Amino acid sequence: MLSSYADTIPLTEAPILLEVRDVSVEFVSKQKGAPAARAVDHVSFALREGEMLGLVGESGCGKTTLMLSLMRLLPAAGRIVTGSIEFMGQDLLDLTESEMSEVRWRNISIIFQGAMNALNPVRTVGDQIAEALVRHGMAPTGKKSSAAGRVGDLLEMVGIGANRANQYPHQYSGGMRQRAMIAMALACNPQVVVADEPTTALDVMIQAQILELLDELRHKLGLSVILVTHDLGVVAEVCDTVLVMYGGVTAEYADVDTIFNDPQHPYTQQLLNAFPDLTRPTARLISIPGAPPRLDNLPPGCRFAPRCPQVFDRCHSEPPALHRLSDGHLASCHLVESR
Ligand SMILES: Nc1ncnc2c1ncn2[C@@H]1O[C@H](COP(=O)(O)OP(=O)(O)OP(=O)(O)O)[C@@H](O)[C@H]1O
Ligand SMILES: [Mg+2]
Repeated sequence: MLSSYADTIPLTEAPILLEVRDVSVEFVSKQKGAPAARAVDHVSFALREGEMLGLVGESGCGKTTLMLSLMRLLPAAGRIVTGSIEFMGQDLLDLTESEMSEVRWRNISIIFQGAMNALNPVRTVGDQIAEALVRHGMAPTGKKSSAAGRVGDLLEMVGIGANRANQYPHQYSGGMRQRAMIAMALACNPQVVVADEPTTALDVMIQAQILELLDELRHKLGLSVILVTHDLGVVAEVCDTVLVMYGGVTAEYADVDTIFNDPQHPYTQQLLNAFPDLTRPTARLISIPGAPPRLDNLPPGCRFAPRCPQVFDRCHSEPPALHRLSDGHLASCHLVESR
């Protein structure tokens, strides 16, 4: 078992900001006596300064659960049962709740899945951003009125005119609402932004614009970004590294060129086949036959075995370990063991 994957990603010399090591998450079942469901199982990755990591996999594979655990925002039924989450050398799992609430926003902020619909409809967008600034000690006098300049700057930064701060969410298009959520996430100058499916609800042109914005902001502000998506086309456009999850485990982890030019896990290969045209970043997952496993009924061997076109006997009985194929390239598949 590899204890740290950080050194295996050779992309840049940039320092590692965030290192998620061996994290597992379980959800307690509502039914008495039923075993807990393990939604994330021993997953690790590293995020360097200025890097954009794509987290991909079909619905239910644990992407959001993994992101919520690194923010320590899991729902009550969920708990982190193994691993560590180091941000600049500090294990976030050791922090008190109040220390952790400082880290959220100021160091790592998250744009939640479906966030653009989370704006309060009866308050102006500017007011909502100002409130976030006040709440996190970023307004000069601690009053919302003193945050107006910063609210305007943030809106300008995401391509919304400062003059629209006084408008209500319904006066914004879907794309603008998502831009406002990005502005909110940037309010406290975090080093890391987690964007959980930031473009899913938007139409094609707007999706591309939002991705462009995220990419531009990370270069301008030196942000590190984790981009959660179903869409490998999106990843090809903007990410440096890619973590492919399947059924709560790491299927493959490598830099983006390796994932696209030399994918080794049959699941990654299938995902790529499902996107015949990567020049269309909005192409939806066409489909891989079958469905991901249910957490309460995981196959005893490899979780992908029931759908794998290259399956052989061992896959049905023995879960594959994560193998290192080369520097910066990991895959959990029995086939790669002998390569
Ligand atoms: N509050 C919860 N209680 C019990 N199980 C949960 C809870 N939240 C998520 N799960 C389970 O954890 C697994 C992973 O879910 P998660 O939402 O992390 O997937 P995802 O990869 O983000 O999917 P999507 O692409 O649809 O957003 C699923 O099987 C889900 O049913
Ligand atoms: Mg999700």
